[in-house]
Amino acid sequence: KSVDLHPTEPWMVASLYNGSVCVWNHETQTLVKTFEVCDLPVRVAKFVARKHWVIAGADDMQIRVFNYNTLERAHMFEAHSDYIRCIAVHPTQPYILTSSDDMLIKLWDWDRKWVCGQVFEGHTHYVMQIVINPKDNNQFASASLDRTIKVWQLGSSSPNFTLEGHEKGVNCIDYYSGGDKPYLISGADDRLVKIWDYQNKTCVQTLEGHTQNVSCVSFHPELPIILTGSEDGTVRVWHSSTYRLENTLNYGMERVWCVCGQRGANSVALGYDEGSIIIKLGREEPAMSMDSNGKIMWAKHSEVQQANLKAMGEAEIQDGERLSLAVKDMGSCEIYPQTIQHNPNGRFVVVCGDGEYIIYTAMALRNKSFGSAQEFVWGHDSSEYATRESTSMVKIFKNFKENKYFKPDFGAEGIHGGFLLGVRSVSGLAFYDWENTELVRRIEIQPKHVFWSESGELVCIATEESFFVLRYLAEKVATAQETKEGVTEDGIEDAFEVLGEIQEVVKTGLWVGDCFIYTSSVNRLNYYVGGEIVTVAHLDRTMYLLGYIPKDDRLYLGDKELNIVTYSLLVSVLEYQTAVMRRDFGMADRVLPTIPKEMRTRVAHFLEKQGFMQQALAVSTDSEHRFELALQLGELKIAYQLAVEAESEQKWKQLAELATTKCQFVLAQECLHHAQDYGGLLLLATASGNTTMVGKLAEGAERDGKTNVAFLTYFLQGKLDKCLELLIKTNRLPEAAFLARTYLPSHVSRVVNLWKESLGKVNQKAADALANPTDYSNLFPGLQEAFLAEEYLKETHVRLRPAAEYPLITVSRYTHILGTFLINSIFSLVF
Ligand SMILES: *[C@@H]1O[C@H](CO)[C@@H](O)[C@H](O)[C@H]1NC(C)=O
Ligand SMILES: *[C@@H]1O[C@H](CO)[C@@H](O)[C@H](O)[C@H]1NC(C)=O
Ligand SMILES: *[C@@H]1O[C@H](CO)[C@@H](O)[C@H](O)[C@H]1NC(C)=O
Ligand SMILES: *[C@@H]1O[C@H](CO)[C@@H](O)[C@H](O)[C@H]1NC(C)=O
Ligand SMILES: *[C@@H]1O[C@H](CO)[C@@H](O)[C@H](O)[C@H]1NC(C)=O
Ligand SMILES: *[C@@H]1O[C@H](CO)[C@@H](O)[C@H](O)[C@H]1NC(C)=O
Repeated sequence: KSVDLHPTEPWMVASLYNGSVCVWNHETQTLVKTFEVCDLPVRVAKFVARKHWVIAGADDMQIRVFNYNTLERAHMFEAHSDYIRCIAVHPTQPYILTSSDDMLIKLWDWDRKWVCGQVFEGHTHYVMQIVINPKDNNQFASASLDRTIKVWQLGSSSPNFTLEGHEKGVNCIDYYSGGDKPYLISGADDRLVKIWDYQNKTCVQTLEGHTQNVSCVSFHPELPIILTGSEDGTVRVWHSSTYRLENTLNYGMERVWCVCGQRGANSVALGYDEGSIIIKLGREEPAMSMDSNGKIMWAKHSEVQQANLKAMGEAEIQDGERLSLAVKDMGSCEIYPQTIQHNPNGRFVVVCGDGEYIIYTAMALRNKSFGSAQEFVWGHDSSEYATRESTSMVKIFKNFKENKYFKPDFGAEGIHGGFLLGVRSVSGLAFYDWENTELVRRIEIQPKHVFWSESGELVCIATEESFFVLRYLAEKVATAQETKEGVTEDGIEDAFEVLGEIQEVVKTGLWVGDCFIYTSSVNRLNYYVGGEIVTVAHLDRTMYLLGYIPKDDRLYLGDKELNIVTYSLLVSVLEYQTAVMRRDFGMADRVLPTIPKEMRTRVAHFLEKQGFMQQALAVSTDSEHRFELALQLGELKIAYQLAVEAESEQKWKQLAELATTKCQFVLAQECLHHAQDYGGLLLLATASGNTTMVGKLAEGAERDGKTNVAFLTYFLQGKLDKCLELLIKTNRLPEAAFLARTYLPSHVSRVVNLWKESLGKVNQKAADALANPTDYSNLFPGLQEAFLAEEYLKETHVRLRPAAEYPLITVSRYTHILGTFLINSIFSLVF
């Protein structure tokens, strides 16, 4: 029976004939809450967002107030002596108005315990609907089955005046909220819709077409349309100034009962016998445009207004904050603007809507030219533009005079302005020369938008799924046009070179130099340069790019409520990146000093990704980044300096590796020392055969508790005593005993005693089973010879022998004896 939209939540409340009130989320299409009100029809339910209420009026004559958060009933009272038809919520005062089949309208004050503040008497039949005048909140209008409309004033119990003209009962009524006309609209059982001027109290128009009782009427609060619903099952859409029937919607859901538009949104809720529908009407994108000096022009209904960024003063601006701008009225436009667009030099604006366009001077909004067209686009040159007359005809104008018209081969579904004239058709996108309308190139793509860079070298073609960046090769085109070589029916093959495709949906975009700045379908503000995407901001709602002002280092965006926000984006960074993309390093170097220090690293990352490592190293200010770059470039000196500054083991390790691969062993050694990488040092020392180094390493390793390395280095140097002491010191007594038994038999006794003592603490039996060779020489045959061998080898072991001596060493008698001794000792020690 009724629908209402919540002003901020994505909610619709529907009151039903069966006694329920349901709140739906129309974004997720889920039922959020249900109130079982009573067993009788609930003819009306309204949101009161500022109180978190749903107020419902039912055929049991009761008004019920629910808190939609807690689902509790906050209040209930008998309001009338017959069915309740309508509730109107006052926009500012704590009032509701109710109307009923008891022919009365009542005002209720919730701040005064829901006292009935006033009764409005005058209708002689059911009062079907009441609406408060949006331009004067003290005035309201009512529609009644007594065939009249009455206008009332709060505070006066009798009507100000009555509008008569319908021949049957009036079901519905609405006020026009635009500033220009004092109009009311009504719908009645005579199947007619009437528009009234409530100042001179005359009917200015009658809309015929519905074939049954008209049950609901609405002036859309944003769009230039009137919506009417009827028991004939249709919703009709009419133009609100021309009264032309624009559309008839029939969803086959039986009788239509209610229609509810919403301020600041294009959604409209419709209520039928068999369900509810939310439809979206019109363009989402606001009609607004900015010139290169920061003058923004937009349309509010058909009023054109201007805001000047320059007049904003010096106040600190925060990224993403709404700007408060002084707005100047420029006058009203003869058509309802759907788009507004400045020409490239900003001297003119074109306003398009309702199949027409008007070109105005941007300064004073004086009309310069006009015509009818489906679409209008500016050329690259400020004096050029094109219009699309139909799906087959395109006209080109120069200096406001028609210059040429042509019928593109595959028709014209849409046109795109810029450096070349783009014409979209079923067969793709065709680019034409503005001068001679010759085909330059046809591309198989269905674009939504085409954005040309100012130089005409780069173009972004955005589709429903992704966007492409192409380079336009003007020289090749000129050559091909001259020689006629490489020209096919699809134009000049080499006209474009594809630079990249990005899987993002571009909503709005613009070029600054070679950087393409855009808003995406997921509300990111990004820019594309040289294959890289840089995110400037995450937007909290849909925003439309208006322009970039280099002087402010700022981007400007607008939303559909005509709020303007800004984000900073340094022109120096964009210029630098553009210069890099053009390989113009002279230019880049000139721009660099203007880039603030904190942005340098970002720029350096960009350079790195473009493959300019050396430049990146020079520009970066982040030591981590610089170290990485220095390593990649093999810049040992810089890397060394950074490692010294950072004092990080990891860096020393990385640098050691690089130094080793570059055969910089002295450096490698130093790095390994800093990194305390004894394994690495050992490898380096042994592989380079540097005795001094091995010696130093042994001492250092022992000092730092790197026992394995210490042991190995001592062993390599033949310092067996040191090895043995190391094992004893680290409580490796069995190993020490084995070592002694093998190399230093004179120490066996001492070590075995230590071992026995230590083992005895945990297992006396096992300790007792260990035989000390001094006590059991019978168990250790050849022990005496081993002592001799030890004496002999003592000298040879400590002598340093260069590798070159290797072939000269012969197997001596003693080594032979030592060999036998070794085998025996192993068997003896293993019990
Ligand atoms: C009324 O109808 C709605 C929708 O069909 C349903 O969800 C609800 O349960 C019904 N309420 C009652 C009281 O029957
Ligand atoms: C309506 O009535 C009020 C009070 O009676 C009066 O002040 C006001 O001027 C009237 N307005 C119109 C539009 O007639
Ligand atoms: C009332 O005003 C409308 C404009 O709103 C005008 O078209 C109409 O002629 C006027 N009627 C009378 C009777 O003045
Ligand atoms: C239209 O309204 C009349 C009362 O004026 C009513 O009798 C009739 O049933 C309504 N038509 C439909 C289709 O409900
Ligand atoms: C343009 O301006 C002229 C004179 O100023 C006026 O006669 C004409 O109606 C206007 N046309 C449009 C479409 O605004
Ligand atoms: C051997 O290492 C020492 C440092 O431990 C170093 O001073 C010396 O230069 C190295 N000798 C050679 C030949 O590399």
